[in-house]
Amino acid sequence: MTSLPNQPTRVLSGMRPTGALHLGHYHGVLKNWLKLQHEYECFFFVADWHALTTHYDDPAIIEASVWDMVIDWLSVGINPGSASLFIQSRIPEHAELHLLLSMITPLGWLERVPSYKDQQEKLKEKDLATYGFLGYPLLQSADILIYRASQVPVGEDQVAHVELTREVARRFNHLYGREIGFEEKVAEAIKKMGKKNAKLYTELRRKYQEQGDDEAISTARALLEDQQNITLGDKERLFGYLEGGGRIILPEPNALLTPASKMPGLDGQKMSKSYNNTISLREDPAKIEQKLRKMPTDPARVRRNDPGEPEKCPVWSLHQVYSDDETKSWVQQGCRSADIGCLDCKGPIIEAILAELAPIQERAMEYESDRSLVRNIISEGCEQARDVARQTLTEVRQAMGLDYRQS
Ligand code: TRP
Ligand code: SF4
Repeated sequence: MTSLPNQPTRVLSGMRPTGALHLGHYHGVLKNWLKLQHEYECFFFVADWHALTTHYDDPAIIEASVWDMVIDWLSVGINPGSASLFIQSRIPEHAELHLLLSMITPLGWLERVPSYKDQQEKLKEKDLATYGFLGYPLLQSADILIYRASQVPVGEDQVAHVELTREVARRFNHLYGREIGFEEKVAEAIKKMGKKNAKLYTELRRKYQEQGDDEAISTARALLEDQQNITLGDKERLFGYLEGGGRIILPEPNALLTPASKMPGLDGQKMSKSYNNTISLREDPAKIEQKLRKMPTDPARVRRNDPGEPEKCPVWSLHQVYSDDETKSWVQQGCRSADIGCLDCKGPIIEAILAELAPIQERAMEYESDRSLVRNIISEGCEQARDVARQTLTEVRQAMGLDYRQS
């Protein structure tokens, strides 16, 4: 058994395949993943079942987006050597864990998740009063808990889902982390650590439980890590005992808040498919140039000679992302004095975006023309994911008393 709660380095995140990825995804989510893949053990997956909860009546877009999304990830530099990439529906363990967790999840917990009502309001044209949609955040909990991930990079709107995951994990551990004779076994295990360590462990546990001393609990965990004389099973009991009663089978994850994307769209609002203001990663360069040339500017600049104000112009927001100080002062000065025209001003932006996308598009073309390579990368990622998922599920079944299935 390896359900030690301290796997501080496992990261898991997913993305719904509901359309082409754009610069907003790149500057927000993907750049963050690129950084994380060097620092942690990462699992990134295509959340196709989650996409079905809202697109059940139009699944074609999902089918069309799955492989494109994987290609986009690879093209921006997500490295299958550092991160396991997989597709949710290829790991049936997510579904079984979701089912098992549904047994212990009070309806009210799901009804109270803010995105439930919000999305129903927002997507009024769709009937989202479905069983699947209500279960959306719980399926997400299963995604996270099946890997016992400790860090979950998500945007602000997903934090409540990670919070629900923590509550479900806590409830699961509370219900199923107890074993007969637990207290006695713990006492035995403590003794095996030797007098000095036993005393230290007991002291640190008391400090944590009475005063919530976080340092005490991390010291205690480190102490347990170092023990050579106790079995893995005992170690696990002692980890569980630190925090309360039983064993921790499903550790509580943390949300790793993705810094909000600063990428503005073509109209100055946040770049988002629903605002129709995006530049997608694989858009044709001529089309991109055309979109940028047509982009609205400060409405005060009706004629070329009218001075403008960058603060009132969406093009200026793009300079904030792409331009150096020199270019930025050229814009400010030139705009306010009407020395430069808006097309001049857009020049460096067009250049910067095309230069940013050129290598991405080139790599995308390579993957496009070698689909079997992409499929192999995913197959390998699925296998890596499945190994972990199977192990967790075995322990979950044991804990819930479903062992008879195996005999
Ligand atoms: N719900 C997430 C989103 O819409 C996608 C997702 C599904 C996810 N499962 C996950 C993200 C697990 C993080 C972890 O963005
Ligand atoms: Fe906007 Fe640049 Fe035109 Fe000024 S010059 S209005 S900043 S596009």
